[in-house]
Amino acid sequence: MANSNATVVIFGASGDLTHRKLIPALYNLYRKKRLPEAFNIVGVSRTAFTHEAFRAQMETSTQEFSEETYRADLWQEFAEHIWYAAGDASKSDELAQVDAFLKSHENGISNRLYYLSVAPNLYPVIVQNLGNSGMAEENGSWRRVIIEKPFGTDLASAIALNDVVHAAFDEGQVYRIDHYLGKETAQNILFLRFANTIFEPVWNRNYVDNVQITVAETVDVGHRAAYYDHAGVLRDMFQNHILQLLALVTMEPPAAFNATALRNEKVKVLSAVRPIALADTVRGQYEGYCETDGVREHSQTPTFTALKLYIDNWRWQGVPFYLRSGKALRAKTSQIRVRFQRPPGVMLNFLQDESCTPNTLTICIQPDEGIHLNFQAKQPDSSHTTRDVDMEFSYKRSFGAQQIPEAYERLLLDAINGDPSLYTRSDEIETLWTIIDPILKGWDTPAAPAVVGYERGSWGPKEAEDLLARDNHVWRLGCNPDSDV
Ligand code: BG6
Repeated sequence: MANSNATVVIFGASGDLTHRKLIPALYNLYRKKRLPEAFNIVGVSRTAFTHEAFRAQMETSTQEFSEETYRADLWQEFAEHIWYAAGDASKSDELAQVDAFLKSHENGISNRLYYLSVAPNLYPVIVQNLGNSGMAEENGSWRRVIIEKPFGTDLASAIALNDVVHAAFDEGQVYRIDHYLGKETAQNILFLRFANTIFEPVWNRNYVDNVQITVAETVDVGHRAAYYDHAGVLRDMFQNHILQLLALVTMEPPAAFNATALRNEKVKVLSAVRPIALADTVRGQYEGYCETDGVREHSQTPTFTALKLYIDNWRWQGVPFYLRSGKALRAKTSQIRVRFQRPPGVMLNFLQDESCTPNTLTICIQPDEGIHLNFQAKQPDSSHTTRDVDMEFSYKRSFGAQQIPEAYERLLLDAINGDPSLYTRSDEIETLWTIIDPILKGWDTPAAPAVVGYERGSWGPKEAEDLLARDNHVWRLGCNPDSDV
């Protein structure tokens, strides 16, 4: 089916995501001449706007959130493709009016990409309405729907939502988004592993001692408390972003570089994750969280979690994976650190020396996107002292800062081009919930670890350190050499 035309319909157009991410991403795709020749972008939400007012608002945000690439003349050209239709898509009569508006502006455009950027409780009704109104039907043209996270709040609700979605759309039309998969550095994990000969032979239990994934944020829950207090860090970050990173690091090489092969391998490895012991989980909450507007009194919602898991397959048997994420932490950084085993050192005394640390490879997802390989070198002018040295690849130095597009650019373009490789398939989303669901349930029982406080600006509670100390490890950041952790 031709991709020479498309209407991108954004439900929830007055929301944060639209003006911070979606419109700037579409503007940049236009700037790079990646959008179809004929295209419309139609914002839909309940608030009344004129087309001009909506465009003006979107321009202001693009200026702010895509400052380096915004150009007034180019924006004017791009803005001619932007429209606004007021309507509540959860009401079938109002959605019918939106449909009529879309048709009246299509002018030869036949394909449609619906983007659900609305409150998650509205996904089922809007999807149903799209199905019932015939707006999901493909008659020689395509209809696709992007569904934002969170996709369900537990396994049962994710299965139920998949059922609703499949009653209106075929799986091939459905794009469940996880913006981490759109990040250049996350995509590069597969290229690092499978486009090079040197890494893959050692990427297994014979050489890897342990893997740490840290996704730390400095921001607190801010104005999202009403959502966050019901979600917590496990649903907000682990069920999606962090487990996706884990899947990319641990999956087998796909037989082909296409969506089916890629997603099959991810599902396979995620299915091999051993049920996580409650004793291997830590729940933290930053000080002052309960005083935030929108947070329930005495809330037990964790804003930080650390956990240990194992993958019971041939490649990873026995290798511990340590995962942590939290808000109001010391620094913003997402990184994956693979620590290799100590060398055998039978004949070389110095290898038993404290100064000799095992090799590590750190993939820095953000910021300072890059890869660091740490290895040992002999300290000059010493007899047998070794020192850790760093071999570094930096995206900015190698490709230039401008070369790293926003995650939403890649993802929107892929959806327009019909490539779901970086989107989450229905069985994959259920597998992700299968890993998380028992922890959520376990945290509601007396066996649950207590919610422990941590200082803002720290690296989380001491219990997270203890989790690793039990295995004689410590959390380390490979991409922030200046950091004291
Ligand atoms: C979102 C979470 O999915 O990801 C937020 O809902 C979080 O709570 C954000 O802050 C982090 O994304 P990024 O790209 O800034 O690491």
